Amino acid sequence: MSTQLIDLLRCPRCRLPLQRQDGALACENKHIFRCDGPYIVFAHDSEQSKYNQAYANRYAFLWAYGYETSHSGLVESLYRSVGALVADALAEMRKGDPIIIDCGCGTGRSIADAAMLAPSGQFLGVDLSSAKLELAAKILRGTKPVEAILPDYGFGDPLSISGRGLSNVILVQADALQLPFQDSRADLLLSVNLLDRVEDPTLALREARRVLRSGGALILTTPLNWTKASQWNMYPDAKALISVVENCGFSVKTWFDQLLYREILDARGSVEEFATLVISGRAS
Ligand SMILES: C[S@@+](CC[C@H](N)C(=O)[O-])C[C@H]1O[C@@H](n2cnc3c(N)ncnc32)[C@H](O)[C@@H]1O
Ligand SMILES: [Zn+2]
Repeated sequence: MSTQLIDLLRCPRCRLPLQRQDGALACENKHIFRCDGPYIVFAHDSEQSKYNQAYANRYAFLWAYGYETSHSGLVESLYRSVGALVADALAEMRKGDPIIIDCGCGTGRSIADAAMLAPSGQFLGVDLSSAKLELAAKILRGTKPVEAILPDYGFGDPLSISGRGLSNVILVQADALQLPFQDSRADLLLSVNLLDRVEDPTLALREARRVLRSGGALILTTPLNWTKASQWNMYPDAKALISVVENCGFSVKTWFDQLLYREILDARGSVEEFATLVISGRAS
């Protein structure tokens, strides 16, 4: 890990800078974070998390099937929209080596797409799920195809995702509500279908604003598929969420609602549909 990269990080617990210490990073207060595996461990996933190994595998390989193998418009629309907004933001900032954070990166599909648009960028993928990060590391950083069979979903033949061989991707296991990054360094932050999964969506937006430099771009997509009554009250519709985004320090450049994101479920092509809000903004 380069000194430049360590300089971007900070202790998520006490906010102090980090230094290398054997196979770990440590702050002056002796908070120690392992970095000798495929991702830096700043936080741990809860035992009850639904984002376990089986879920991560299913998610990654149905992505490969729906998005890469079958080229089905049923499942591509969200990711193509995100790609177009990333291309716009990069063209506007005209910077050869942008720092791009993907909060809730999952198995890495938005990073895989964005890395084609910004090949010399520095990518930081953040997720809480160790299972998803392990797959993301194999897919994004590895060079070999990653294969699985999902007979329980009707796929007897192996599904394959090509390894991208990206050396400019660092993955961190961390909470989107307490990012392990210094203030005002990132040029672009992606948050693709994360917001309605976190405990405190407003705090996630404030953290996103904190780590973006002024003028940095936010590309946010989320179904408003909240998990708590209080969240349904706070963010009942697109307008309500947009004003929270603005109050957190962003100017909204464009937005559209009700983009149908279809999550592929099985070999027959069954899908689950989410009405998704898409927002592109700049840190004011
Ligand atoms: C619906 S998935 C979307 C994944 C990815 N953005 C994509 O589009 O493929 C939501 C992701 O957010 C992660 N996640 C949930 N809560 C989180 C938190 N507080 N901090 C970081 N990641 C979180 C989950 O582990 C999961 O990978
Ligand atoms: Zn610390």
